[in-house]
Amino acid sequence: SPSDPDLVERARAAKEKLGDKVFVLGHHYQRDEVIQFADVTGDSFKLARDAAARPEAEYIVFCGVHFMAESADILTSDDQKVVLPDLAAGCSMADMATAEQVAECWDVLTEAGIAEQVVPVSYMNSSADIKAFTGKHGGTICTSSNAKRALDWAFEQGEKVLFLPDQHLGRNTAVRDMGMSLDDCVLYNPHKPNGGLTAEELRAAKMILWRGHCSVHGRFSLDSVNDVRERIPGVNVLVHPECKHEVVAAADYVGSTEYIIKTLEAAPAGSKWAIGTELNLVRRLANRFADEGKEIVFLDKTVCFCSTMNRIDLPHLVWTLESLAEGNLVNRIEVDPETESFAKLALERMLALP
Ligand code: 13P
Ligand code: SF4
Repeated sequence: SPSDPDLVERARAAKEKLGDKVFVLGHHYQRDEVIQFADVTGDSFKLARDAAARPEAEYIVFCGVHFMAESADILTSDDQKVVLPDLAAGCSMADMATAEQVAECWDVLTEAGIAEQVVPVSYMNSSADIKAFTGKHGGTICTSSNAKRALDWAFEQGEKVLFLPDQHLGRNTAVRDMGMSLDDCVLYNPHKPNGGLTAEELRAAKMILWRGHCSVHGRFSLDSVNDVRERIPGVNVLVHPECKHEVVAAADYVGSTEYIIKTLEAAPAGSKWAIGTELNLVRRLANRFADEGKEIVFLDKTVCFCSTMNRIDLPHLVWTLESLAEGNLVNRIEVDPETESFAKLALERMLALP
């Protein structure tokens, strides 16, 4: 829907008043009304790098979700302030791994006698606490655009990987990109004693997958893929690796949001695409490429926005920018120094991946 012209004008005026003091980052899943004010857009990896590359900005306004703002705070200098326009913009997947649960898991791995062989690899979509755990235990962070490189690195450091918190990205990368089999993977359920696994199962596994998932990408099914192939002959199915393994296995192309955009940019006129990722992005791409004769549809019949990404809307952005322009620092996201130092270690290992 078109943005309210009054709010657009207020956002523009507040941003102009702030000038170089503010830098606005927008994740690809953000609403159009917010994206129009982003100085840069990107996937989680690109935005983490872009935040770190803006030392002159006093305020980094992060239009995305909580874990992204935390990562930006970790990667920027102490006098830069990272602001999340709505503090309720969390991520249900990141919430599926708490510090206590992960500490308990490490005890289980220790009991099974394998902790020394295990390297943690945590998806960007995790709290700063989980990133700190990862850094402390010699592991790295990954995003959907560098998961294979992160796993290659991890298997040079140890024999097994504990992959947190997205089972699907972990499984898809192991099986699709690393040539492992489904039997090399076990699923650790934090709600069951010992993760629901025996010590033998843990010892035999190469990939210990945390039982987390994205509720948005979890909606796509094998039926969604089969239906769209029937509806649109010749369609290319392009999905995000947070989708279930069966969906990824049936798709033609798999990659991060940035990869999805690049693939569509390079696609020939007349080509047809069904995209399995968040709806704000898919609609924006469908509109953008319609003139070039590329037909782009959403993979599923029912809509699926990320409800927490959608919490950042134009009214929240206007309130944030106007507050900052008046000298009121609102909604700052600040990671405590101890957590930050270990989390930074894990993030820097990711940024240093070949
Ligand atoms: P990317 O933008 O890194 O592909 O991440 C997708 C996502 O779910 C972010 O929350
Ligand atoms: Fe979290 Fe999924 Fe939303 Fe990304 S799309 S923020 S992983 S719930």
